[in-house]
Amino acid sequence: MSDDEKKNEDSKGFEGAAETGDPTAQADAAAEATTADAQSAMSSSGTSAEPAGSAAEAADRDVEPAPAAAAEPVEAPQSFPVTVIVRRYDPEVDDEPRWVDYDVQMYPTERILDALHRIKWEQDPSLAFRRSCAHGVCGSDAMRINGKNRLACKALVKDFDTSKPIYVEAIKGLPLEKDLIVNMEPFFDSFREIQPFLQATGKPEKERHQTIAQRERFDDTTKCILCAACTTSCPVFWTDGQYFGPAAIVNAHRFIFDSRDEASQVRLDILNDQEGVWRCRTTFNCTDACPRGIQVTKAIAEVKQAMMTGVKL
Ligand code: SF4
Ligand code: FES
Repeated sequence: MSDDEKKNEDSKGFEGAAETGDPTAQADAAAEATTADAQSAMSSSGTSAEPAGSAAEAADRDVEPAPAAAAEPVEAPQSFPVTVIVRRYDPEVDDEPRWVDYDVQMYPTERILDALHRIKWEQDPSLAFRRSCAHGVCGSDAMRINGKNRLACKALVKDFDTSKPIYVEAIKGLPLEKDLIVNMEPFFDSFREIQPFLQATGKPEKERHQTIAQRERFDDTTKCILCAACTTSCPVFWTDGQYFGPAAIVNAHRFIFDSRDEASQVRLDILNDQEGVWRCRTTFNCTDACPRGIQVTKAIAEVKQAMMTGVKL
């Protein structure tokens, strides 16, 4: 009997039991029908112990199984030589910084940070630079690469013209300590000065509420990782080391426009200084340099406007 014929017989039995009104007969018929269905389904889907059309069955019947589709050959990425020229300075040996050439084998998807590691680990262990996360989060490896401030861990080799050398030097405007390391203290002094923490009085019952729109007002400036790429790309900061600089203003913005904060005016007064926001000449270097894509110049303009017209949340 075929599967279909068997199913029809089973369903007839079930209907017959239903007509008789005998509950025991109905239950038996239903159980039988279910078992028959399951067996039929297993047979047609090939999930039985000896599935129809399996490789084992084909082997029993001396049938050649179909060959697997040939995989496309994947070309392995090739490394190539890159010349990296680093501005070195050792205060114990050098009177002046000097440029030193290094040839390194690099893959296109590697970063300038990888090139520096390769130089340090394979050629000259005395090379000094900062890095921590290696993934654009900690902000410790800002440096000047081909004249532009970038994070070395985010600068891919394939984005440079590697037929020419890649120049790497320390960020400008902060005291040079060694090779690619600068003294960050003046930068953090300005940051601390603008009081970068929430100041709110009163104890809320549960939490301090904020609408989505109020949170969005300062969302952009919450992304700062304090890498100093903006401040050290600013020509005003290069010539006037006392200027607060874009990063301090960005972090002031983050709290000035926070609806929960009560010290906005204190920060505006701090920045309404001859070394404050009015030093900004709107060159946009800071916005170009920011690895987090923060609209730095816009944030500075908003702080200037808040000084003139009051904070609009
Ligand atoms: S604003 Fe951007 S460039 Fe400036 S310190 Fe913050 S993350 Fe770095
Ligand atoms: S090493 Fe952390 S941002 Fe580059």
